[in-house]
Amino acid sequence: MDATNLLKNVEIVPVVVIDDPKSALPLAETLIQAGFSTIEVTLRTPHALVAIENSAKAFPDACIGAGSVRSALQFAQARDAGARFAVSPGASDSLLDAAAKHNLPFVPGAVTASEIIRLQDCGYSLIKFFPAELAGGVNMLKAIGAPLPEARFFPTGGISPDLAPEYLKLPNVACLGGSWIAPVGLVSARDFKSISKLAKNARLLVT
Ligand code: 3PG
Repeated sequence: MDATNLLKNVEIVPVVVIDDPKSALPLAETLIQAGFSTIEVTLRTPHALVAIENSAKAFPDACIGAGSVRSALQFAQARDAGARFAVSPGASDSLLDAAAKHNLPFVPGAVTASEIIRLQDCGYSLIKFFPAELAGGVNMLKAIGAPLPEARFFPTGGISPDLAPEYLKLPNVACLGGSWIAPVGLVSARDFKSISKLAKNARLLVT
C-alpha cells in the first residue's frame, strides 16, 4: 500500500496529461530514453487509462502509475490497466480501502498536519503534497517536518526546474513531480524533440 519502497530510488516523476491516445507511446518512449523510468499518467482525460495500458505493455520495465485518482472505481481501473502505483491529490476512506483491497502502492495526498497524521495512522509514510507551491512550498515542508519528522513527501504543483533543487535538498522530500518535463502543449503538438530536451535537462538536476 505505502509506495515508499517502490519509489525509493526515484527523485523526479514526470506528471503527464494525455489528450491524444496516439501520443502515449512516443511520449513514454521519449521520457524513458531520457532516463525517466517512473511516469505518472493523470486520470484527467478519457484516454488516460488506455495510455497507461498501452505504455505498461510496451514498456514492461518502466513503472507507469496513475495520477489524479479520485475514486475507488478509478483505483480499480488503474490497477486493471496495469498501473504499478496510484497517486491522489487527497485521500478518502474509499480510496484508502481500495488501496488496501487491490494491494497497489498508493501515494495519498495531504497538506495539513491533521491530514498527514491520519495517513500515517493508516500506515502511509510517503504522502503527496499538492499543490506544493500554493500550499507553502519548501518553507511549509520545512516547518511541518519539525513536529512530523517521520513523514516523507512527494510534492507536486507549481514546481519548476528552478525550484526543484530546493525541494530535493529537503530531508523530508522523497521525490517530486511536475508537468514541466512534458508540458501539455508540447504533448498535443507531438513535439517529442522539445520534450526530450526538457526531460534530459530535468535528469541533470539529479545526476
Ligand atoms: C499533479 O497532478 O501532480 C500536478 O498537476 C502537477 O503539477 P504541475 O502541473 O504544476 O507540475
